[in-house]
Amino acid sequence: MIADFQDWARSRQACIETSLQTLLPAANIAPERLHEAMRYAVLGGGKRVRPLLAFAAGELSGASEERVTIVAAAVELIHAYSLVHDDLPCMDDDVLRRGKPTCHVEYDEATALLVGDSLQSLAFQLLAEYRLADTPQVQLEMIKRLAQAAGSRGMSGGQAIDLANVGKILSLPELEFMHIHKTGALIRAAVMLGARCGSSLNDAQLENLDRFAKHIGLAFQVVDDVLDAEATTATLGKTAGKDAEHNKPTYVSILGTSRARELAEELRRDAYQALESFDATAERLRQVTDFIIQRKF
Ligand code: IPE
Ligand code: IPE
Ligand code: MG
Ligand code: MG
Ligand code: MG
Repeated sequence: MIADFQDWARSRQACIETSLQTLLPAANIAPERLHEAMRYAVLGGGKRVRPLLAFAAGELSGASEERVTIVAAAVELIHAYSLVHDDLPCMDDDVLRRGKPTCHVEYDEATALLVGDSLQSLAFQLLAEYRLADTPQVQLEMIKRLAQAAGSRGMSGGQAIDLANVGKILSLPELEFMHIHKTGALIRAAVMLGARCGSSLNDAQLENLDRFAKHIGLAFQVVDDVLDAEATTATLGKTAGKDAEHNKPTYVSILGTSRARELAEELRRDAYQALESFDATAERLRQVTDFIIQRKF
């Protein structure tokens, strides 16, 4: 019997919060201001969707909670770094994030840059420091996977495409290419790293899981585009309407909000289909999928 999603999500969110608190350098360790800013950027906010996905995939593969917690923390650190840099004046120039002033506003731009650098390094340090898989070979593959997902063929490459296309009209395939890189890659890594902490899945199952992760990764950014257009700043905890204001090509600018919502639903169906062979064992992943599609912020 699978416990209520809200209760499960709250307990996983509390678990990741506690771990991040411990894994991040204390604010009284030099350089204090940098460490304080790192903690500011990571702790006490965010939906923690990537950790939830890692935990759900870990449950599917019989992984221990200890291992998945480290993987979930590493992915969340990369995500938090991407947000700090995304908000910088040279990128989206945002002043509000997770209901608080953005890192460069609260501290300064140089500190925000270094916060991003340091969070990324810490993520990889964790993956190298703890035993996370049954064999060193699998653990190395996990490290490589996160590096690829964060790098120029993943998240940061997607961000480069995003910035290069301000004011332009993209075709749907071009838009999809941008989204699966800037957002999808890290979500996919969260699922796959969570799964690789355990060993009960065979290659075919891992492939299905990866197909699932690809669909929800794209769906996540489609919904983010819709929320930017439809939700309020108060609900989002970040400034609403920024995409249109900055002339960003998004699923809303290309398709309109109602077609973009339909596309998110199609992606949910594709994601469910990829999980078909798992039956009830993948129920938690289906619940996180529903949360991604139906979320209000
Ligand atoms: C926002 O991500 C940035 C995107 C990749 C779309 P989230 O919506 O997961 O942000 P938090 O972590 O909940 O603040
Ligand atoms: C950001 O996409 C994706 C990454 C941070 C990699 P957005 O620019 O749409 O994210 P928000 O809307 O500012 O959270
Ligand atoms: Mg952006
Ligand atoms: Mg942004
Ligand atoms: Mg957005």
